[in-house]
Amino acid sequence: MPTPLAPRARARLLRWFRAERRALPWRERRDAYRVWISEAMLQQTRVATVIPYFERFLARFPDVEALAAAREEDVLAHWSGLGYYRRARTLHQAARSIVAELGGVFPSTRTGLLELPGIGPYTAGAIASLAFDAPEALVDGNVERVFARLFALPGALGSSSLKERAWELARELVPRAKGAGEWNEALMELGALVCLPREPRCGLCPWEADCAARALGRAAEFPAPKARKPGLEVELEALLVERSGRILLHQRAAHEGRMALMWELPTRELGSEHLFSAHWPLQAGRVLLREGEELGRLRHTITHHRIQVVLRRGELAAQPRGAGWCWATAGDASGLALTGMTRKALRGRCASPLSRA
Ligand code: ADE
Repeated sequence: MPTPLAPRARARLLRWFRAERRALPWRERRDAYRVWISEAMLQQTRVATVIPYFERFLARFPDVEALAAAREEDVLAHWSGLGYYRRARTLHQAARSIVAELGGVFPSTRTGLLELPGIGPYTAGAIASLAFDAPEALVDGNVERVFARLFALPGALGSSSLKERAWELARELVPRAKGAGEWNEALMELGALVCLPREPRCGLCPWEADCAARALGRAAEFPAPKARKPGLEVELEALLVERSGRILLHQRAAHEGRMALMWELPTRELGSEHLFSAHWPLQAGRVLLREGEELGRLRHTITHHRIQVVLRRGELAAQPRGAGWCWATAGDASGLALTGMTRKALRGRCASPLSRA
């Protein structure tokens, strides 16, 4: 099959990347651990958000042994606010299996990497190519969009037909001998800086003259937008119970799949769906909490749920007993694995603001 891109066009991308690449903390020094943590954090999350998280995470868990030895709650606390907490849990499980089963040595092949929890084709391609310069392809949302435009590919964003075609192209284009890591990163960087979703900056693009969508005068129309699924509306009520400058927090149970073991304001779902928590008002058959005046409302979005939270002052009708409850100062709370919703609700409501908002 002829290569779909002329050597001169390939060289133009690399030249552009060498001149324009952002200085990012995970690019300062390359090893599999740093690539892995940064790629896990960057999924679904913006670079500017990730930078401080990456630095704190690396300071606390500098290598795979440190991560494997940590308690899950500590790992979650360092992820708190990034969302998609499954990423943190699987990172932790994978670190444990690298240490226990592989002597602490990272697999360097795509197949070896794919065996680890939480590592899918994208992350396996990223670690193999960026850390080991193995000739492995990758496709993320940015690469999918770049290829959709460069080759005027049919198919909606995220559709399996577009994704499959993008993967085929990525495999055809990735350098075989050396430089796969740089090539992959240049593609992602082009998507992040120039080939933007809504308003592509074609005037700055090294592939302006090569781009099929641009030639049609329709760069911004590729890829076709995905058909939107309406988000589920959820209404929650959260209670702010304060005592001597401390706030009452509740830890979600280990069996609650969603955000298990994370700390939150006592929260219940209004309405009937019970998708979230409903651990109040009953505990051991007694009313534990009473709701008081409304303090405000906030909106929070998690994947396919649009959540409206009514924040009320709460009163304690009985002392909470047992594990799973704590009284936290603002300082304590910022070190806990708080849910994003609770972090948001507490912002500006504590004597000293939560530092990791
Ligand atoms: N997005 C995710 N990983 C990236 C990387 N390594 N470079 C540029 N953008 C990215």
